[in-house]
Amino acid sequence: MKQFWVGLVTAFFLFLSGLNNGNAKMTSTFVRSEWPSTDIPLDNQAFAVPKGRNAPQQVHITQGDYEGKAVIISWVTPDEPGSLKVQYGKSEKKYDLTAEGTVSNYSFYKYKSGYIHECLLDGLEYATKYYYKLGDDESSREFWFQTPPEIHPDAPYKFGIIGDLGQTYNSLSTLQHYMQSGADAVLFVGDLSYSDRYQYNDVGIRWDTWGRFVEQSTAYQPWMWSAGNHEIEFMPYMDEVVPFRNFLHRYPTPYLASKSTNPLWYAIKRASAHIIVLSSYSPFGNLLNFDSSLW
Ligand SMILES: *[C@@H]1O[C@H](CO)[C@@H](O)[C@H](O)[C@H]1NC(C)=O
Repeated sequence: MKQFWVGLVTAFFLFLSGLNNGNAKMTSTFVRSEWPSTDIPLDNQAFAVPKGRNAPQQVHITQGDYEGKAVIISWVTPDEPGSLKVQYGKSEKKYDLTAEGTVSNYSFYKYKSGYIHECLLDGLEYATKYYYKLGDDESSREFWFQTPPEIHPDAPYKFGIIGDLGQTYNSLSTLQHYMQSGADAVLFVGDLSYSDRYQYNDVGIRWDTWGRFVEQSTAYQPWMWSAGNHEIEFMPYMDEVVPFRNFLHRYPTPYLASKSTNPLWYAIKRASAHIIVLSSYSPFGNLLNFDSSLW
């Protein structure tokens, strides 16, 4: 219980938007129940592994540049590194473009991650639907996303703001209500998986279940990440003392595009919004050289 309240004050998203045209409104009266707050069991359908040998899972996209003409696509293959390529294009099943990404893996205590793929698609057109395909032929998977309109003070856009999501039955209800809202992208204000409720190998395992759980939204629209206190995962009893390790391995941000030196601190523009992501639980590298006017 306490962790939810702590979580609420952890992450900062500065959200500067031209809301003075009077279109801002509350879009739902849904209020998530707080109790009971039971994690969904590992064998639940909400965490189902996609069919096919070594099939891509935990697919998620985020903005990949400063102004909304790029996305970073991330996915995990469980058994071995998969194809590094993303095939994509503007018509369904007709992928005339290809981008190539990278793959990495890491350990957390004795847990070994799957193969975490990351690929940047850039030079995209504004306000366009793109289809994309991941993985090797027999177990490939297909998704789509929509790029935002060109940056303009009046560009209409619907953001969802989600934080403290976790992986309880209440989290599932929140995610389903969010998806019904018809919003275009998420500003995630920290505290993703609540894997820090667990110990030893279960920490990594619960990052994987969370990635599969949110894929129904994160594969189709960008979620912009900021880190909360539950991402710190400082666990000296298992020799894990580097803060944010699981988060940083799995959730890339476009920090270089805003000339930041730290993936937890960055800025982007999207449609009519100027978004500045700050991390209240970590120092920003070199404040002496930091020129905030760049953001
Ligand atoms: C990464 O994957 C390779 C190949 O499967 C494996 O040998 C290595 O132990 C893994 N690295 C970590 C840090 O788990």
